[in-house]
Parts: sequence; C-alpha cells; structure tokens
Amino acid sequence: MVDLPDDKILELSLKHNFWTWSAQARVNPIPVKKAKGVYFWDISGKRYLDFNSMVMCANIGHGDERVIQAIVQQAQELPFAGPQMATRPRALLGKLLAEVTPPGLTRFLYTLGGADANENAIKLARAFSGRQKILTRYRSYHGATYGAIAATGDPRRVAWEPGTMPGVVHFLDPYRYRSTFHRSNPNISEAEFCQDYLNHLEEIITYEGPQTIAAILLETVTGTNGVIIPPDGYLQGVRVLCNRYNILLIADEVMSGFGRTGRWFAVDHWGVVPDLMTMAKGLTSGYAPLGAVAMKTEIAEFFNDRVYEGGLTYNGHPISLAAAAAVIEVLREDHLVERAAETGQVMADMLAELKDRHPSIGDVRSIGLFGVVELVRNRQTKEPMAPFGRSSQEMANLKKFMLDHGVFVYTHWHTVLIIPPLIITPEQLTEGFSVLDEALAITDKASD
Ligand SMILES: Cc1ncc(COP(=O)(O)O)c(C=O)c1O
Repeated sequence: MVDLPDDKILELSLKHNFWTWSAQARVNPIPVKKAKGVYFWDISGKRYLDFNSMVMCANIGHGDERVIQAIVQQAQELPFAGPQMATRPRALLGKLLAEVTPPGLTRFLYTLGGADANENAIKLARAFSGRQKILTRYRSYHGATYGAIAATGDPRRVAWEPGTMPGVVHFLDPYRYRSTFHRSNPNISEAEFCQDYLNHLEEIITYEGPQTIAAILLETVTGTNGVIIPPDGYLQGVRVLCNRYNILLIADEVMSGFGRTGRWFAVDHWGVVPDLMTMAKGLTSGYAPLGAVAMKTEIAEFFNDRVYEGGLTYNGHPISLAAAAAVIEVLREDHLVERAAETGQVMADMLAELKDRHPSIGDVRSIGLFGVVELVRNRQTKEPMAPFGRSSQEMANLKKFMLDHGVFVYTHWHTVLIIPPLIITPEQLTEGFSVLDEALAITDKASD
C-alpha cells in the first residue's frame, strides 16, 4: 500500500472526501487506525469500546483472523469473477445460508448491501405478483437508494420527495410506548394491543385494494427507529393477512439478522417464514460489502423461463462471499447466536437498572444484543429529549461525553442505541454502561 503517515489520514480525508449523510463543513470523523474484538483505536492510540458494532454490523467483532484469512485466501485464489460465474465461495455460501435461514428460503440473490437487497426484493415481489404497491411502516429505514428510500418510512426520505420510487404506502408501527391508539388506555393487554395494529393494517390493505399490493416490507425488529419489538402475535398476524390477501411478506433483517436478537434471524422468535428476506451488515460483519435476498423456491422458479431483469457488476463478488461464509462459520463455531441471547439477558437487566435510576429515561427495550434507551424531558408527557427527526443540545452533549470517555455509541434523535458486537462480555458491557450512567447526568438535568 502507498505509505501515508498517520497524521495525514484526517487532513487528506477531509480535503478530498465527500461525506454521506453530512453537512461537509461540519464533519468530525474519528481517524480510526485499528480494530480488534469489541474495541477500535484512533491514530493517537485512544481506545473506543464499540457499542454500535461500527454501523450495527460487526456482529462477530473486529479483526477476527479466521475471516481475514478467508479474505486473503480468496484474494490469492480468485479476487474477482463476474456475476454470471460459478465460484467456490458462491457455492459454499448458498449452502450455508440455506442451513441458517428459515425453512423454505432456498435461493439467494447477492447484492452489495442492504438498500439494493430491499430494491431487489421489491422487484422480485412486483414481478412475481404482477402487482405494484408496497406497504411499509412509518418508523422504518430500508436504505438510501431511490427505491429503498421510498420504502423507508422515517424522515430520511423527505429530502428526496416527491421524486422517489412510486407505489409505496406507509402504515403505523406497533410501538407500545408511543402508541397513538392507546394514549387513554396504555395498560391494554398485549393481545388487544397487537390486534389493534393488525386491524389498522388490514384497514389500510382494504382501502388500498388488496389486488394492487405486491408486498408488505417490514423490519422484523425495527432498528434505527427505536428497536421496536413487535408484540407476540403481531408477525404471525401479518403473515395471516398476507396469506389472506395473497400479498408477499418481505422481512428486512439487514440489522436484526445473524444473531443480533439472540436467534439467527428475528423472525425465528415468532416462527414466521417470510416469502423474501433481506440481509446485509452482520452477513459479513462488515469485513466486506455484501447483501442478500433470500427467497422461497417458488419465487425463484417463477423466473425459470423468464429473465430476471436486474444485476450489478459486483453482485456475488468472491471476496465478499468468502467473507460471509467465514463469518457464518465463526458464528457457529463460537456459538455467538446463543451467546447473544445469554449476554442479552445481562444487558436487559442493566437497562432496567439504568431506567430505575435516571429520570430522563422514559423507556428501555432490548432483544438479544439489540437495545435502546429512550430519553424524555418528562416521564408523564413523554416529551422526547430531541424532537422527532432532529437532535438536541442535550443529545449532542451526551454523545460527546460518551466519545470523550471512550465509548462509541449511535444516538438517533432522542434515543441511544446499544448494539455491541455479539462477542461482548458482561464485564465489557459494564464498562460501557458505567460511562452511559455518568453521561445520563446531562439528560437528567434537562428532565423534570
Ligand atoms: C433495516 C435496514 N435495512 C436496510 C438498510 C440499508 O443497508 P445499507 O446501508 O447496507 O444499504 C439498513 C442500514 O442501516 C437497515 O438498518
């Protein structure tokens, strides 16, 4: 590699790089130098505990030699082959994915990441069903490309509207803490709560015309919009509605897959098999870019004599496929899915304890190692610590405190997401939680 002194990394990156999701004059990147396990280090040697798995993707942790070696070996044997070629990692990964994904999902289309996985799932659903509309939820993120941002329900789509992909209709999420339907009866039973949101969805299906709807696309457990865990029965109920109206169910498991929730995929908690399932992030744990669409056999077979009109130069890149195969082997060998379930229990207890002690915490939720702290100015009114879709001084200060004290977290509006690598130990969790505990003094001061 061209030699570049460490102290040039930040300077040159700022000079020549155009940053995504950023006002260019306000970026403040960490000049990261190395990463190992649950930590990464900047060029000055400062260590950060990675409470966000970098971009919610480093499920197996950083710097795992087994994956690095798989990438090196693949680079030596065959660094690239076109998307129409059969290669060793393509053969191997499909077999492994068929073993870990829900039964009946037998064929896999490889993409470059999560957004284009969702776009391909939408295309497959539209072609297979002959229908156009896609129903997704308001509190969702499905990616930033033209189609995926249209499918996204959260405000990240707004800057590009109305010029995005047509045909998306949004509906409400079963978000108990801020449930629109249950402000006057918040203690309603889980079953009734669940049924109200299924009724809402069915009403939307009716208004839109079931014969026009190709698919319902949803994050099984909502990620950046607040780790919203569906009530028992919800996903099964959506599956029933899909069957009733002949609508395909697409589960976006980009963030919730590969052990994140303590099961291989979040759908496994509720025994629901979607027709299409999208994946990325944990699939390679970030070691190389890759996404995938898993599909039922009948959807793949629909294209036996029809051409699937879609594909990119780097679909099925051998290095990414080899990384993914190695990651799945690491997840299995080290029992990381089971470990995430166990450590997830420890994290749930820590979250509950934190909530007891901090008035600015309105709610905490987690499933496996997928957690969120929801910050409010007042527990009764639930006024969020930052307005919907925006940040606030308190949230910015909290994040700065965490970073200054060596804990890397993702804050989203009024929430702090806690999504560490699945290899994290209870002691390392405690390390991060004690910094969060101190940081919460900032938001507690703003809360009454
Ligand atoms: C649930 C979900 N779907 C899709 C995406 C898009 O993935 P990518 O950034 O790899 O395109 C993300 C990214 O955060 C995500 O969280």
